Amino acid sequence: MRSVIPDYLAEVLEDVRSDTSGEPAGYIPELAAAEPERLGAVFAMVDGAVYGAGDIDVEFTIQSISKPFTYALALSDRGFDPVLAKVGVEPSGEAFNEISLESDTGRPLNPMINAGAITTHSMAGSEDLSPAERVERVVHGLSAFAGRRLKMDEAVCASEMESAHRNLAIAYMLRSHDILTEDPRAVVDGYIRQCSVLVTARDLAMMAATLANRGVNPLTGEQVIRGPVVRQVLSVMATCGMYDAAGDWATQVGIPAKSGVAGGLIGALPGQIGIATFSPRLDPHGNSVRGVSLFERFSSDMGLHVMEVPAAARAVVRSNHVVGSGPDAIRVFQLQGGIRFAGAERVVREVLDTAPAEARVALDLTMVHSIDDVSRRMLLEVVRRLTLDGREVYLVDPESIIPDPDPGDGGRVTVIGDVEEAVSPPRTVVQGGGRSGEA
Ligand code: DON
Repeated sequence: MRSVIPDYLAEVLEDVRSDTSGEPAGYIPELAAAEPERLGAVFAMVDGAVYGAGDIDVEFTIQSISKPFTYALALSDRGFDPVLAKVGVEPSGEAFNEISLESDTGRPLNPMINAGAITTHSMAGSEDLSPAERVERVVHGLSAFAGRRLKMDEAVCASEMESAHRNLAIAYMLRSHDILTEDPRAVVDGYIRQCSVLVTARDLAMMAATLANRGVNPLTGEQVIRGPVVRQVLSVMATCGMYDAAGDWATQVGIPAKSGVAGGLIGALPGQIGIATFSPRLDPHGNSVRGVSLFERFSSDMGLHVMEVPAAARAVVRSNHVVGSGPDAIRVFQLQGGIRFAGAERVVREVLDTAPAEARVALDLTMVHSIDDVSRRMLLEVVRRLTLDGREVYLVDPESIIPDPDPGDGGRVTVIGDVEEAVSPPRTVVQGGGRSGEA
């Protein structure tokens, strides 16, 4: 059987192919000469599976899609405070190349507009790097996101530099405010080299999937950036990634995204998928016309809008029943799925509402696949309070979803692999305060 996903992708591509509105970017001959009919789309799952249709291995320049990744490198290399001191996180509602800076500080409003991106380029790598070393830091970083060594299109680069008047104007303004501390020309040259890196839709999907996968490249397994940086970058993509179309995008598509003038478009949905499309004709905002349509389709067909959250919390308690009878009876709360705060709250309430009369109580995690930190602490506090109420508490946890459970002062829990074990001698008893031993 063929996978349904490439067939779906091919079908959606055909649906948008007839739309020939918009024009390829015209400000340099190399981009104006792009083959306008090129069309491709790729899904990269966070476990590394890749599905694609159309022109997914054709190279084009990354352009502004480099901006969120270079922002990530600057945050990683310099830390949050120095970067935030120079580049804000507010949507500008303006075009990508608007010559606008915050009036009092001279800070660019965000790292997705050119003013911000030129600044973050200057902050990739350590302060003492030469311009060439900084470019190498950026290309090396972009390559780590893609999972292969990326090259540069020298012709695009030279041509962009010849017509970089606006970016130079922005850079000189940044220099006058001391936001840039280096030679503005060298920084713009580096920024343009960054934008001239060649990628395919497949590369872009993998780069987006690295963001979706908490900074770990699904192909190479490399932790390219840390979780807090991923959160910062995705937040800024969600609010500023589509420039003056950001609000429309947030409501219609709802996937953190970034576009580039060569026709690329990426979206990263945390925990699920990295998406990339390629089609060179652009709308007046500088976003790919067919790319935007494709993302609208993907979002509605597959329920990918970040605000569309499954009603998972209610289903966390799978069952609440009693095993056995008499003094040996055990009250079992069988939990399931991924547990986050609202799910843990549901468990706490279920235990309270039940007010178990049985002397023995089990929290069965056999069907739980993940639990976050706050939920783990909440469940262990339930264990502690049940112990203080005089109950013998069991944690059925064959997969060690909660490794080394410590129910805290006065708490006591017996870890078992199966509810049935509660009737035979327990394996591991954990006393509050972290003391554990064989019972
Ligand atoms: O800064 C520029 O003009 C280009 N090299 C990149 C701009 C870009 O991709 C804008 N995005 N849609």
